[in-house]
Amino acid sequence: MIVKVDRWNPDGKAIKSAATVLSAGGLVAFPTETVYGLGANGLDGRAVSSIFQAKGRPSDNPLILHFGDIQDVSKVAIVDERAMGIMDSFWPGPLTLVLPAKDNVPKEVTAGLNTVGVRMPSHPVALALLQACDFPVAAPSANASGRPSPTDADTVASDLGDKVDVILDGGATDLGLESTVLDVTGERPVLLRPGGFPVEALVELLGPISLPKGELELKRSPGTRYRHYAPILPMRLFFDDKPIPVERGERWAFVGFSQPPFGASRSIVFTDLDSYGRGLFAAMRELEKLPIDVIIAQWPDDKGIGLAIRDRLTRAAGME
Ligand code: TXA
Ligand code: MG
Repeated sequence: MIVKVDRWNPDGKAIKSAATVLSAGGLVAFPTETVYGLGANGLDGRAVSSIFQAKGRPSDNPLILHFGDIQDVSKVAIVDERAMGIMDSFWPGPLTLVLPAKDNVPKEVTAGLNTVGVRMPSHPVALALLQACDFPVAAPSANASGRPSPTDADTVASDLGDKVDVILDGGATDLGLESTVLDVTGERPVLLRPGGFPVEALVELLGPISLPKGELELKRSPGTRYRHYAPILPMRLFFDDKPIPVERGERWAFVGFSQPPFGASRSIVFTDLDSYGRGLFAAMRELEKLPIDVIIAQWPDDKGIGLAIRDRLTRAAGME
């Protein structure tokens, strides 16, 4: 069931009944500032496993717990001073922290790891829902596993249909790419996934941050092992200083931030990188419906949201 809610002033009754569905073990999809999430009671292992079933998600990929209040995080995770400082500075917002988990977190959430991902989203609908619950809400992106994350309610409905009890429709999401995931369990923070929150701001507060290159970090962020965010059609990357990567006779569509070389069947051109990030997943889903052979996506600069766009494009192109 899709329930429309005012993004800035969500109807209290709609929020309350969605919270009731969650506390009874049901599934509720809701908008966040990044992408739509598929939520369940994060302390109820059975409810959480139904998320994996609905998405067809591999069970060794852990979920993020979402909170409406910073104070509640210490009920499920060990929060040291540095972690508290990050939350105070940057929450609510598109930043997930990986912290040492407490014993009450179901193994369905952590996928058996001894850590847990936590985040407080800034979207008014997400916040209202989370504050109406007396438990954290486990929520991955609300897409079928392996597909681009949904940035509007209709896309959630087309991917998950009646596998979800309620879809709160708060319109299109703001950022269009998932949260930045930062592991702060060790001495030096590790960037597990670039996302909606700029790495530059993290470095400014925390100093140097490691990138997950070694096996160890790859093991710790299981989600990064899968081909992700992928359209049905093959995708290739276009670098400004190289020729367009198409063979003679191939039909292609283009997505990027400047006019493509001549020959595209269709192009979606965003005026800046923020709009590119916001519209990328929806563009993939639109272009894959065309009678073409390949989607060509323009490679951006790595500043700000550009780093997250690069990450999603690399995975969608199957290059990682
Ligand atoms: O913006 C977002 O983060 C959205 C909205 C709904 O909040 N959620 C989202 O969840 O993107 P999901 O499940 O699609 O991606 C979560 C990522 C995965 O790559 C997962 O492996 C990683 O976070 N992750 C979660 N818990 C972790 C943990 N304990 N250790 C390492 N990585 C973890
Ligand atoms: Mg996802």
